[in-house]
Amino acid sequence: MIVTDAVSAYLRELRPAPDPVLAEMEAHAARDGIPIVVPSTGELLHVLALACGARQIVEVGTAIGVSTVYMARALPADGTIVSFEVYEERHDAARSYLERAGVLERCDLRLQDARNGLASLPEERFDMAFIDGVKAQYGDYFDALLPLLRAGAVLAVDNVLMSGSVAEGSSDGHWTEDQIATARAFNERLIGHQQLIGTVTPVGDGVLVAVRS
Ligand SMILES: C[S@@+](CC[C@H](N)C(=O)[O-])C[C@H]1O[C@@H](n2cnc3c(N)ncnc32)[C@H](O)[C@@H]1O
Repeated sequence: MIVTDAVSAYLRELRPAPDPVLAEMEAHAARDGIPIVVPSTGELLHVLALACGARQIVEVGTAIGVSTVYMARALPADGTIVSFEVYEERHDAARSYLERAGVLERCDLRLQDARNGLASLPEERFDMAFIDGVKAQYGDYFDALLPLLRAGAVLAVDNVLMSGSVAEGSSDGHWTEDQIATARAFNERLIGHQQLIGTVTPVGDGVLVAVRS
């Protein structure tokens, strides 16, 4: 965690109990070692989607659908979240959980590499995007996503601080020096981008939040 243990513990205490489906998804992810957003990141995504009145959302990296649930629950009944996943077992599990969570009708789950799938989506139609795939591919996702966002749309990107090693600039044994350098260059690119106004928040593993101008 990036914040102190005391802050993490406080945030855990503050969290309302998750509903049974979300709790089951979290247990599944913990049991099988599937990376998912931490609750504070999920709640941030939910709030961001509500704040921008999102009707159309696009996500890279469904896994078993935890972040998808948080965002889908912010959508109106006729809203849609398009979410890409390359791992069939996770894509299938997400479909099942999202159905049980009562949001499947709002979810367009695609078993496809986002780097191919994003190119087929309509330009300037999305109100929000969330990047949470392979870190080395973040630049490719961003290049494909930017044209899809309408002016005023929100972009959120997870794991931009990599447990803090991005700030320290050196390997912690988990992330390599190359991965850290790539992450730093990605963050600098987005924060300095002419079409974005953004900031990096120390929520979860670091969430970059930006608005497209
Ligand atoms: C960190 S997990 C996503 C977690 C999910 N957003 C959540 O919080 O519940 C990243 C996922 O991206 C998937 N992935 C990797 N490369 C991808 C790609 N090119 N296109 C779509 N999904 C990809 C992985 O299989 C993995 O399940």
